[in-house]
Amino acid sequence: MKKIIALLLTVVLCTAVLASCSSAAEKQSLEAIKEKGELVVYTNAEFPPFEYLANGEPAGVDMDIAKAIADEIGVELKVENVKFDTIISSVQSGKAAMGAAGITVTEERKESVDFSISYTTSTQYVILHADVEFANITSLKGMNIGVQLGTTGDFIISDEVNGYSDDDGNAVKGVLQDTGASVTTYNNANLAAEALKSGKIQAVVVDKLPAELIAKNSEGKLKAIELVYEDGSNTAESYAICVAKGNTTLLEVIDKVIKDLLDSGKIDEYIVTHTTNALA
Ligand code: ARG
Repeated sequence: MKKIIALLLTVVLCTAVLASCSSAAEKQSLEAIKEKGELVVYTNAEFPPFEYLANGEPAGVDMDIAKAIADEIGVELKVENVKFDTIISSVQSGKAAMGAAGITVTEERKESVDFSISYTTSTQYVILHADVEFANITSLKGMNIGVQLGTTGDFIISDEVNGYSDDDGNAVKGVLQDTGASVTTYNNANLAAEALKSGKIQAVVVDKLPAELIAKNSEGKLKAIELVYEDGSNTAESYAICVAKGNTTLLEVIDKVIKDLLDSGKIDEYIVTHTTNALA
């Protein structure tokens, strides 16, 4: 009897889990979006040239891609400007149809959402005062390092400062661990850069193009350099748009639009235009 009850419970639980998965994908399926007449995209408009505020409205490479997707579907685009570290869960729960925010594809995130094909690549960069020497990640020993909460820059630096476990679950000592180095999280890289300028922190780690823009807009006070490990390797990352797990109908349209924009050279154009627009 107990076994039967346990079995029944398992069946009920599994069905509930499956139903909650399919409901996010169903809520934001291509059909549903067409019915609503609206494509809801979540972003964090503090990451130029991919997204920034222009006259109070989110603009940037990701917004141009999102607009092309909405046009392809034939619906209005609705952009919500939210904290970066909430985007994945809002997409996962079906609050947003997609997340477009210079989001790096990672194995962990793939457990929560599905990703489109990649539209560009990046690596992490370090922003420092212009006169500070930088050879590789060990140059950050003893520094207080600013990152944007919930970003790959945050994960990479936090691991090196606090230590982490490798794929086999063995504890690995971080290269910045026990060196006096620490991490401070900010809601965006601009706030981190302000803290750097005022001397509260000594470095900021963020993706390449936003880092270069912060340095270019600093009147020569700051510089941006690629974050490399001791062996010279960098943190190769790919950006993609995310949707709820199993939302294949929407993902197909997104992939098609991205492929066309890549083939026609439009993505490169967007990057050039928005980099110019975001220069102070
Ligand atoms: N590529 C990094 C990540 O996925 C940073 C993205 C930050 N994007 C933003 N819109 N603030 O974690």
